[in-house]
Amino acid sequence: MEFIQNVLVTGGSGFIGSHLVCSLLTRQPQWRILNLDILDYCCSPRSLASVQHEDNYSFIQGDVCDQRLVSHIFNTEDIDVVFHMAAKTHVETSFVCPSEFQRVNVEGTRVVLNAARQAPHALRRFVYVSTDEVYGGSCLQVFDENSPLRPSNPYSATKAAAEYLVHSYWDEYKFPVIVTRSNNVYGPRQYPEKVIPRFVSLLQANKKCTIQGTIPKSRHFLYVDDVIEAFLLVLAKGAVGGVYNVGAGCEVPILQLARELVKMVQNVPDTQLNNWVEFVPDRPRVELRYPMSSEKLYQLGWRPRVPWSEGLSKTVQWYKSNPDFWPSESEDTGPV
Ligand SMILES: NC(=O)c1ccc[n+]([C@@H]2O[C@H](COP(=O)([O-])OP(=O)(O)OC[C@H]3O[C@@H](n4cnc5c(N)ncnc54)[C@H](O)[C@@H]3O)[C@@H](O)[C@H]2O)c1
Repeated sequence: MEFIQNVLVTGGSGFIGSHLVCSLLTRQPQWRILNLDILDYCCSPRSLASVQHEDNYSFIQGDVCDQRLVSHIFNTEDIDVVFHMAAKTHVETSFVCPSEFQRVNVEGTRVVLNAARQAPHALRRFVYVSTDEVYGGSCLQVFDENSPLRPSNPYSATKAAAEYLVHSYWDEYKFPVIVTRSNNVYGPRQYPEKVIPRFVSLLQANKKCTIQGTIPKSRHFLYVDDVIEAFLLVLAKGAVGGVYNVGAGCEVPILQLARELVKMVQNVPDTQLNNWVEFVPDRPRVELRYPMSSEKLYQLGWRPRVPWSEGLSKTVQWYKSNPDFWPSESEDTGPV
């Protein structure tokens, strides 16, 4: 990776983005890291407080859809690598304002791709951070990178649309793109609209975990450090034009997740765990599970390092130690 000097992370103030920025600054101190982020409601300046004064870190507050700003960055900063992760990410909200998801996730990706391709300095890698949700749900079929995309909500539809744009730049221009599709990422600092921090926040406020619908659902979880390792690996060794699933094979039923968190936060005996769980009405269609093979990434040498019990306990511990990091929990019933 000798060719890398300047790395642009879009959405670098968000949950995964802030972990990536911190990790890059620690592990590659010779690289300059630029973070372009609009600072949406899901960000806290505290996420990057520890690095904000580093000489090789720059923050630019702005919109990925702002063509003039994005072109200016590419025209002046000699960007070698982009991790494009700025996005609207909350599935439930995507039903309420799909056009904003389309604007940021699709148009924003087009703007960044176009500016990157037209930059005077040749970009070496454009890593597009996508999601397993582009496959849609499945009960039995295990998706690999060649499986058809069948997104089933406005969020995943916009992520899939953006992927098609990214692939078109490879097909048409041999622009050096790589796409990652990861499972549900969890860890410290995640905004409490996503299921794990939402359950923890509810429990910390002595409220029940609300689960949508009574049909058993599960999700595959991946600790944030493991997804960062995957990004760095595909940057170093991934084939340009390629897609890489990133999954730890850690499938957890949502009811089990709620019970584990009740135990950790409320510290009640097993017989009382269900008293802290409440079922609420579901959307008409909710994917039951997203099974996926990450064999291609394993062949590059990636292995998830953080077991579920360790990742969950680190995460809960962080929320216990930082109860005021996010505003108190909302009544939102969340994405599962
Ligand atoms: N969290 C997951 O489980 C998961 C799983 C797979 C893929 N992803 C993808 O990873 C990426 C990061 O996800 P996350 O969980 O960190 O999300 P997040 O919601 O925490 O962060 C998204 C970031 O994008 C920024 N942003 C939003 N609109 C913007 C705009 N118009 N211009 C500039 N910045 C803007 C936000 O301010 C925020 O910092 C997203 O692309 C998401 O689709 C997330």
